[in-house]
Amino acid sequence: MKYTFPDNFWWGSASSALQTEGTREGETTWDYWFAREPNRFHNGVGPQQTSTFYQHWKTDIQLLKQLNHNSFRTSISWARLIPDGIGEVNPKAVEFYNQVIDELIKQGITPFITLFHFDMPMAMQEIGGWENRDVVEAYARYAQVCFDLFGDRVLHWFTFNEPIVPVEGGYLYDFHYPNVVDFRRAATVAYHTVLAHAKAVQAYRAGHYAGEIGIVLNLTPSYPRSQNPADVKAAHVADLMFNRSFLDPVLRGEYPADLVALLKTHNQLPACKPEDSLLIAEGKIDLLGINYYQPRRVKCRDSAVNPQAPFMPEWFFENYEMPGRKMNPYRGWEIYEPGIYDILVNLRDNYGNPRCFISENGMGVENEQRFIENGQINDQYRIDFISGHLTWLHKGISEGCNCLGYHMWTFIDNWSWCNAYKNRYGFIQLDLETQQRTLKKSGEWFAATSLNNSFDI
Ligand code: BG6
Repeated sequence: MKYTFPDNFWWGSASSALQTEGTREGETTWDYWFAREPNRFHNGVGPQQTSTFYQHWKTDIQLLKQLNHNSFRTSISWARLIPDGIGEVNPKAVEFYNQVIDELIKQGITPFITLFHFDMPMAMQEIGGWENRDVVEAYARYAQVCFDLFGDRVLHWFTFNEPIVPVEGGYLYDFHYPNVVDFRRAATVAYHTVLAHAKAVQAYRAGHYAGEIGIVLNLTPSYPRSQNPADVKAAHVADLMFNRSFLDPVLRGEYPADLVALLKTHNQLPACKPEDSLLIAEGKIDLLGINYYQPRRVKCRDSAVNPQAPFMPEWFFENYEMPGRKMNPYRGWEIYEPGIYDILVNLRDNYGNPRCFISENGMGVENEQRFIENGQINDQYRIDFISGHLTWLHKGISEGCNCLGYHMWTFIDNWSWCNAYKNRYGFIQLDLETQQRTLKKSGEWFAATSLNNSFDI
């Protein structure tokens, strides 16, 4: 069976500044947190030990070319560009990002640029991070600076990567700094992130730049254990909290009424200003990036909530371990290929079929050295993972979904936050000692698929 994709389909991968650049300049929350609690990071490896893109950007772009990428997403580091978040622009950073953008274009690879990928400048966190509206203003200025510096050549902008993750990690579940557990503060952070997004979109529209602006969301389709109304309701609440809290504002320009009502009932609504809703309405996007790794399976709660426990999304549902589910045991995430199709169909049927693309999909595997054959990692499991997802994506497109491309996480093994280098995701193997880069079998497969705009199973 041959799967052919539409003309001009985007084939590429995604990465982020903090996870690849190395050579730290401008302190972020990650540098600060790592200096104080290195034990939180796998094998004590921190953000300064990454895949050295800052030094090797030119040869790394050659590798992207070898992978036949026609597009590539990375992020700008706010802290590198504006070290204190709000003041002077660092000319070395401008030079670096100019060189990367120009070289990508020279090699025929369209740059997709994210403005914020989990890396808050520490100076901004010190004044409260996303809890403080002054940080929203500082971010809007940073976005404007980026549009002015690079907007003549960058035509695809993304305000945030997975904005729900810093909310979950930093304010609910203790896997990002500042390690707070407080739902109302989490809701405030999420709300202010939406305002920051909308301000950046507003500035982009006002500047009449040549390209388009969007956001990258990690969408986790919520599947109920059964069609029992209690399970269905549990899945609905999970969907409201984790998907629709960002999807609705950026595509419909407003929050779902039942999410607002739920938070109001439990006294968890953030402080709003009357003019906010107009701003949110102006934050509607041109292009949606979809990161899809895993589904969310939920059931109704079997036990009563401890009234002393902090208010949490899990007051309304429990995670459900479906018997027989296919797992990636290294990351602990379920692999469910039809999820990608369900996301696209939901967007088509309920959100006006927006222009979108898969901006991340991927499989992190531990100790890949054991798969080396004749000097190359034979990661057939990754090829199976990608082709499995692509067949469902192809089905979505053939049924009218407006999906324009597929980017993998990621082109070269990189540093994965608290997991550091535990799981490897790349098309290219990175030797941490020598920094040598070696193509994996999946890289060869992807290069051929991109070149042919098709693959066979
Ligand atoms: C996404 C992020 O959540 O998934 C990346 O955009 C991240 O930054 C990737 O690295 C893989 O997840 P993890 O937690 O294994 O690094």
